Amino acid sequence: MSIPDILDSIPESGIRKLFELASKQKDVISLGIGEPDFDTPQHIKEYALEALQKGMTHYTPNNGLKILRDEISEKLKKENGIIADPDKNIIVTVGGNQAFLLALSTFVRPGEEVIIPSPYFVTHAAAARLVGGTVVEVKTCIENDFRVDPEDLRRSITRKTRCIIISTPNNPTGSVLTRKDLEEIADIAVEYGIRIVSDEVYEKLVYDGAEHVSIASLNGMSEYTITVNSFSKAYAMTGWRLGYVVADPATVAKMTKFQMYLAACPVSFVQYAAAKALRDPRSRAATESMRQEYQRRRDYLYKRLSEIDSFVVNKPMGAFYIFPKVDFVDDDKFAERLLVEGKVVVVPGSAFGTYGRGHVRLCYATSLSNIEEAMNRIERFVQSIRHGS
Ligand SMILES: Cc1ncc(COP(=O)(O)O)c(C=O)c1O
Repeated sequence: MSIPDILDSIPESGIRKLFELASKQKDVISLGIGEPDFDTPQHIKEYALEALQKGMTHYTPNNGLKILRDEISEKLKKENGIIADPDKNIIVTVGGNQAFLLALSTFVRPGEEVIIPSPYFVTHAAAARLVGGTVVEVKTCIENDFRVDPEDLRRSITRKTRCIIISTPNNPTGSVLTRKDLEEIADIAVEYGIRIVSDEVYEKLVYDGAEHVSIASLNGMSEYTITVNSFSKAYAMTGWRLGYVVADPATVAKMTKFQMYLAACPVSFVQYAAAKALRDPRSRAATESMRQEYQRRRDYLYKRLSEIDSFVVNKPMGAFYIFPKVDFVDDDKFAERLLVEGKVVVVPGSAFGTYGRGHVRLCYATSLSNIEEAMNRIERFVQSIRHGS
């Protein structure tokens, strides 16, 4: 299929439709959009201003500012156990979102298969389709905390399989893959010679002492892995549009070539601010205080949702989403009616692939008082639909 045909065949995001509907309603509480409600830490804003004052208003190299790649390389070594040459293994991107299309276009050919544990983050599937790939969904379920069963992965592999896209911590489920899970996935990658695209944009948001493990740090995995990360979630910088990819030199070189014709480079003063932020201990403190607040909200939301009989809920260990099963009703209708009648925005699970159906995603990147009021409304709404009104 050609790109115009592929674009026609990709459905409009289910999330967007709901937000359009929400914008026409008054007094709505949104647990919909997946972005931090916190402002970017002040010192990072000041670094951007400093860059502007210094006249950093020009193009940067296509793979990003050298000082930023150096800082990313340091960070990867210290925090992720990944050894990356700043000149060969790292490219800075316009947010994490852009990275998937850039990365997949370097090695997935039309008709080849991309395995994605489902429910999945919508961009993963869209990027696979845009490069002409075929998405193969592998079911994960709430009973198994949405973790990937390696045997299910194995069964999905064919001669056309090129890669598996994993997301840990996960959007939309909040699941966090353990070191053992990742070791098993790594064994599969090596055995079949397929690549792993590892989305780690929520790496800093893990709870109850859960450990974030980068699959690229496991023995021998750096050559098989394309790691995607971003400044959006850890530093509350969604609007700044800055991410990065760590991969083998050939992949990074091709992505850099593509980037030249796509965006040329991410915004120069944003890159400078991010480089400074990585080195500044205030950034770590800011991330940690946001993480603690998310954990408080998660605990509250989990407790309230668990009290609703007809919901099946599991405790997410990361990101800022919870993904209860509500399969006594159609999830699209549930979300639409909850918005119109209950004035709360949640996202229907079917927006996240076949195996998201029968669930809804609630995002707790909003204040505890909003969450409390949203839950009061959800409780009333569920009672009303259970009683058939
Ligand atoms: C799992 C996941 N990956 C990647 C992204 C991309 O984030 P950004 O493009 O803001 O870096 C998001 C954003 O919601 C996400 O949820």
